[in-house]
Amino acid sequence: MKVAVLGAAGGIGQALALLLKTQLPSGSELSLYDIAPVTPGVAVDLSHIPGEVTVKGYSGEDATPALNGADVVLISAGVARKPGMDRSDLFNVNAGIVRNLIEQVAKACPKACIGIITNPVNTTVAIAAEVLKKAGVYDKRKLFGVTTLDIIRANTFVAALKGKPSSEIEVPVIGGHSGVTILPLLSQISGVSFSDQEAASLTKRIQNAGTEVVEAKAGGGSATLSMGQAAARFGLSLVRAMNGEQGVVECAYVEGDGQHARFFSQPLLLGKEGIVEYKPIGTLSSFEQQALEGMLDTLKQDIALGEEFVGK
Ligand SMILES: NC(=O)c1ccc[n+]([C@@H]2O[C@H](COP(=O)([O-])OP(=O)(O)OC[C@H]3O[C@@H](n4cnc5c(N)ncnc54)[C@H](O)[C@@H]3O)[C@@H](O)[C@H]2O)c1
Repeated sequence: MKVAVLGAAGGIGQALALLLKTQLPSGSELSLYDIAPVTPGVAVDLSHIPGEVTVKGYSGEDATPALNGADVVLISAGVARKPGMDRSDLFNVNAGIVRNLIEQVAKACPKACIGIITNPVNTTVAIAAEVLKKAGVYDKRKLFGVTTLDIIRANTFVAALKGKPSSEIEVPVIGGHSGVTILPLLSQISGVSFSDQEAASLTKRIQNAGTEVVEAKAGGGSATLSMGQAAARFGLSLVRAMNGEQGVVECAYVEGDGQHARFFSQPLLLGKEGIVEYKPIGTLSSFEQQALEGMLDTLKQDIALGEEFVGK
């Protein structure tokens, strides 16, 4: 299995690469690419860690050498938020970066499963889909917006609030990956319940958790270490499923049946070729149902922005 990380010299990329180097199955190849010239050095650094995962690093304008033969491509290339910005402020720079990298993926490894981390995810995934479509290689079962950070945050906050081990808590998070489009389904967590007040304030905290980090880092960037962990969880789940493990389920932002919006995050059963089954979002509380209806205009606008960007 060859896993490529694009944006590998960045805060997320380096944390993710470290976790993949130590946790990918023996015999895997880890391929690191970033425009930054430090990238081959990041690979040399990681290659001194014992283990049966080989690491190579590439820099410069051309991602092709890193992408050739890749089975999984995880993309965190782009700029991150500063205080006062929301994810949509990143659109102007990151849209072009994602378009350029996906054009290269379409040529070098058109059958790879792709995970997009670069924000605004609600829009960059639509850009990636349109670019792959234009190239004639789009397979909606293989393109994912990585929303796992919302899930691990929700798990952490719920566990702390209810005094439970976080390993026992798994919160499905549906919708998109910004503000009101992030919808944790707190009513579906087994063994815990919430007052209306608790559900409302916890939902808000999960939706704004990225801003908590951006403000605490005081201009130094956004979540990198927790995002590295989240992307590693998602990437490793994908690799396990692609290697034949049964029953691997993760939530991610994907093109499904379009019931709520063209792209929507929901639980997915993963397999050798990406998505095997779109799992239902289940029964929602009235608070969650209202939040779902309230987010759809925003989500659809975010998606349209990406579609129009490639259409131009
Ligand atoms: N999906 C999520 O939950 C989530 C969470 C946090 C951050 N993010 C997003 O992830 C992205 C990266 O964040 P970060 O903190 O690692 O930023 P960073 O600035 O530390 O790293 C970004 C890296 O991308 C590289 N890069 C820029 N343009 C490139 C190109 N054309 N080709 C290859 N590499 C390129 C830069 O050289 C840099 O090393 C941002 O867009 C951020 O908003 C997503």
